[in-house]
Amino acid sequence: MNNRPIGVFDSGLGGLTAVKELRALLPQEDIIYFGDTGRVPYGNRSRETITRYAKQAASFLLSQNVKLIIAACGTVSSTVTDLTSLTNGAPVPCIGVVKPTCAAAVRATKNRKIGVIGTTTTIRSGSYQRELSHMTDGLEVYSRDCPLFVPLVENGFSSPDDPIPCLTAQRYLTSIRETGVDTLILGCTHYPLLHDIIAQVMGPKVALINSGRETALYAAQWLKENGLLQTNGGSTAFYVSDSTEGFSQLAQIFLGMKVEGSVQRIAIESYGA
Ligand code: DGL
Repeated sequence: MNNRPIGVFDSGLGGLTAVKELRALLPQEDIIYFGDTGRVPYGNRSRETITRYAKQAASFLLSQNVKLIIAACGTVSSTVTDLTSLTNGAPVPCIGVVKPTCAAAVRATKNRKIGVIGTTTTIRSGSYQRELSHMTDGLEVYSRDCPLFVPLVENGFSSPDDPIPCLTAQRYLTSIRETGVDTLILGCTHYPLLHDIIAQVMGPKVALINSGRETALYAAQWLKENGLLQTNGGSTAFYVSDSTEGFSQLAQIFLGMKVEGSVQRIAIESYGA
């Protein structure tokens, strides 16, 4: 069981920000990543469609004999309320980013004012707001969707010296900053790439919570507690649902390193929903 890989999926390649964190924490684990590059973005799709896509991703990862499934996508984690339903009864746990990220935000806040940013579907779902209020009473939560952040990152507009992402961030974040939050949840795979820009707008006193990092930490702890850590692996295999051309270039942005490992295209529609 220990030697089985960890399965990670996302709507596209943004979930590699979570793989980056997992790699750093668990260098001996084998990781299988599926990015639904043929159907990205999920951030403005309906609950039914996102659930069907997520079930297919989980079905593919189960076919790879994974021991744990991580839905690295903020949109999937927010929309599919019962992630265990994705595995159709298979005894493989499936975790999303919402719970570990909210837990970290609750630990971080001192003034009990928390901001949440994500895709439009994530924010509309109210998932972070709900989870935070389940965790503790008396929080003030302010949320905002930032739909231009994903295309900006994917098109390379993420430098703090570039006025385009900086102005966009100011437009989206000023009202949240003015509420006085001391903690901001980056509830989307792509937002860690805009960390410095977001930090510039929010100011040095606001803690930014990276959902990929928090979820990787949670997964590492879970594997440890359940005696499922691997000690002799370390490979990463990448699967996508569209052409593999250009994969390395985009993947490198999210992974923060050169892509090492095989890349294959799969027919995701042929996996059971
Ligand atoms: N992976 C998505 C998320 O974290 C962002 C990209 C998309 O809209 O599919 O919400």
